[in-house]
Amino acid sequence: MKNWSSRFDEGLNPFIEKFNASIEFDISLLQEDLDCSIVHAQMLGRQGIISPAEAIQIQKGLEQIRQESLQEKFPTEVTAEDVHYAVENRLIEIIGAVGKKLHSGRSRNDQVGTDLRLWLRRKIDQIDQKLNCLQRILLITAQKNIQTLIPGYTHLQRAQPLSLAHHLLAYIEMFQRDRDRLVDVRKRVNISPLGAAALAGTSLPIDRLFTSKELGFEDIYYNSLDAVSDRDFAVEFSSAAALIMVHLSRLSEEIILWASDEFAFVSLTDRCATGSSLMPQKKNPDVPELIRGKSGRVFGHLIGLLSIMKGLPMAYNKDLQEDKEPLFDTVKTVMNAVEAMSIVFDEGLEFLKDNLSEKVSSDFSNATDVADYLVKKGIPFRQAYEIVGALVKLCIKRDILLRDLTLNEWKEISPAFSEDIFDRLIPQQVVASRTSLGGTSFERVAEQLENWTSRLNS
Ligand code: ARG
Repeated sequence: MKNWSSRFDEGLNPFIEKFNASIEFDISLLQEDLDCSIVHAQMLGRQGIISPAEAIQIQKGLEQIRQESLQEKFPTEVTAEDVHYAVENRLIEIIGAVGKKLHSGRSRNDQVGTDLRLWLRRKIDQIDQKLNCLQRILLITAQKNIQTLIPGYTHLQRAQPLSLAHHLLAYIEMFQRDRDRLVDVRKRVNISPLGAAALAGTSLPIDRLFTSKELGFEDIYYNSLDAVSDRDFAVEFSSAAALIMVHLSRLSEEIILWASDEFAFVSLTDRCATGSSLMPQKKNPDVPELIRGKSGRVFGHLIGLLSIMKGLPMAYNKDLQEDKEPLFDTVKTVMNAVEAMSIVFDEGLEFLKDNLSEKVSSDFSNATDVADYLVKKGIPFRQAYEIVGALVKLCIKRDILLRDLTLNEWKEISPAFSEDIFDRLIPQQVVASRTSLGGTSFERVAEQLENWTSRLNS
């Protein structure tokens, strides 16, 4: 069925008809389209644009479509151009000519903008919940690993040992920023364009504030052109989603490294690892690799959306139909990636504590502590740095560690050293001593764990 005016004599070229259609993907907006239309019909009735009885009839018809869709009786292979026409056509089938009154005072342009915002608002809340769940799982892992030490790196070179909990808390912070960003984006998603009509508003006495309030929007667009052509909210969301993927991808990269024989910081459980079809000994970190890989498509969608927008003259242009697939795929990808990462931390990894503790005690990552020791004895830092550098060089030459030097050898280098230097070299001590605010000491980490426990539970 064609929905546009009698101005046309001929039907569409069948290829072009398909090319023009969006029903294949915008059927995902069906529930939101029904929400939007039900409220619009109520408003038309209240304003006397249609009679109260007609409004009720339309609402009942729309509710029936909802029931049909919930029972999967609303045809998924609809022949209409888009979800808006599919609903309208079915409505007219169900209730007859009254259904033709629904579209008074609105256009598909403000309608699709409304549907998309309602849909994205709901998805943002779901992503936020999933991020909260991931943070909690990371927090539980962190709580079990305050005393577990892990090498800390800069430039992927051993730097200073860390509490594993401190390392995991860094990701909890990152995911919190992601959640804060979503809260902020949500404010600009939650503005109603409904009633802007095609581009200029309408001469019918509609009540935009009523529909906005009923649909749970915080405000309305006050410029009809902006209302129908703005997709900033989609771009902002995609950008927030891209950062979520950056964070997940960084964590994935660490897991992949940790699971290698070279690091051997974690072993992957059978629940979340896969085998090779050829090499019988392999256990592969496919899940973090896929998360890392999927970040690419989310970044691509962000650029895609920006590119769609950059040349658009006012107001609605059909280009905007292209906003949906990237947005839908972004939401699906982010949700799946967050959930997969939660499962990995819940049951996919075991930290190899013996190996971790062996690693942190067999390197020079306590060298800064020796320099700090001298600073506390009054030696200027630069001079202390030189002394320790020479010591490390000497140890490497003799193939020993700092802890293997005798007290005499320490004193030969500087008389400032005494017996207590040996204590300072122990990795647990090294970590415990980083008590500055935000540092990795057990004390500071315990405070942060407490802080996050109450934050994530509130
Ligand atoms: N399917 C269209 C979209 O997704 C709906 C709006 C169409 N508006 C129009 N004037 N052709 O953007």
